[in-house]
Amino acid sequence: DAVDKGRFRHFMLKEIFEQPQVVNDTLEGRLVNHKIIIETLGANANKVFADTKAIQIIACGTSYHAALVAKYWIEDYLQIPCLVEIASEYRYRQTAVLPNSLFVTISQSGETADTMAALKKAKEQGYLGTLTVCNSPASSMVRESDFTLLTRAGTEIGVASTKAFTAQLVSLMLLMVTIGKAQGLEESKEKSIAEALEHLPSEIQAALDQAEAIEDLSERFAEKHHTLFLGRGQQYPIAMEAALKLKEISYIHAEAYAAGELKHGPLALIDKEMPIVVVAPKDNLLEKLKSNIEEVRSRGGQLFVFADESANIQSSDGITVFPIKSQYTITAPMVYTIPMQLLSYYVAIIKGTDVDQPRNLAKSVTVE
Ligand code: G6P
Repeated sequence: DAVDKGRFRHFMLKEIFEQPQVVNDTLEGRLVNHKIIIETLGANANKVFADTKAIQIIACGTSYHAALVAKYWIEDYLQIPCLVEIASEYRYRQTAVLPNSLFVTISQSGETADTMAALKKAKEQGYLGTLTVCNSPASSMVRESDFTLLTRAGTEIGVASTKAFTAQLVSLMLLMVTIGKAQGLEESKEKSIAEALEHLPSEIQAALDQAEAIEDLSERFAEKHHTLFLGRGQQYPIAMEAALKLKEISYIHAEAYAAGELKHGPLALIDKEMPIVVVAPKDNLLEKLKSNIEEVRSRGGQLFVFADESANIQSSDGITVFPIKSQYTITAPMVYTIPMQLLSYYVAIIKGTDVDQPRNLAKSVTVE
């Protein structure tokens, strides 16, 4: 039952632990026999997808971070330019629309005022069509959009979004493949993505099974005033989301940086008081990331590296390595999100904040 905390102390923790089920629900009927098929987006969706030459995504908060991950996927797999912008900026500036662009909003509530205003603006701007990736079937955004992809995360009560984010990522991956198939995406690519998605619930479960170890780790953050999160590629937005979660519920100032950008400023912040969390899955940027880790270590920073078991990064002076199992690169953002959510949750518990209802924040920002 969505409004019952069950055995959990907070809705947020319950929602974090619901994520394997949420992924299954979001895939239900859409991933069958290693094929991805979404039949319910709206009339003529496939025609619009076949004609799509560019994608503009608009969102706020956590939903914006999901959009940033999708940009990496869309440009990598589809070679379609994908622009991502926060709604409060997009709605008030002179925007230029690329020819044959699809306009996409992402929203848990479907009611966020800025995103809604951006959608209304887009409808006057000559986009091919508007699509919303939304968790609320009866929302304004669903009503106002030509096409809808429902995220099926169920009711999310914790103000800090967790399961809705994961459901957004899974949905965006399905959307990416669906657009790709309308444009002749190779079957082998669809199959490899399908395989990764099929294994995602169990990979997320394995990450959840590490909750106690992350709870222990959280003690090393509770007294800190700042934390830096680093990632590269599709994990950079995951670092951004991790920093947002920590800020929202533990009130610790946190920032995320693309690790390659360290040398252009944040290295100046590194000293032994500064914890630095690194998201380090095995991908084509791992070796580069290892150099970034060394840049931080040699300046005395306290590193906490969430790394693939095969990454060959060892705990040593200044480095605590936390092993994560994630076999598929494409779905690794969803897997690495889990320890980040748990970390911020347990830090907030030590700090004694109101986890489900952090000060000054609202679940749905329906006024400007
Ligand atoms: C608020 C919530 C966030 C959410 C953001 C966007 O700030 O506290 O958790 O990510 O709004 O909301 P939406 O419903 O549009 O995804």
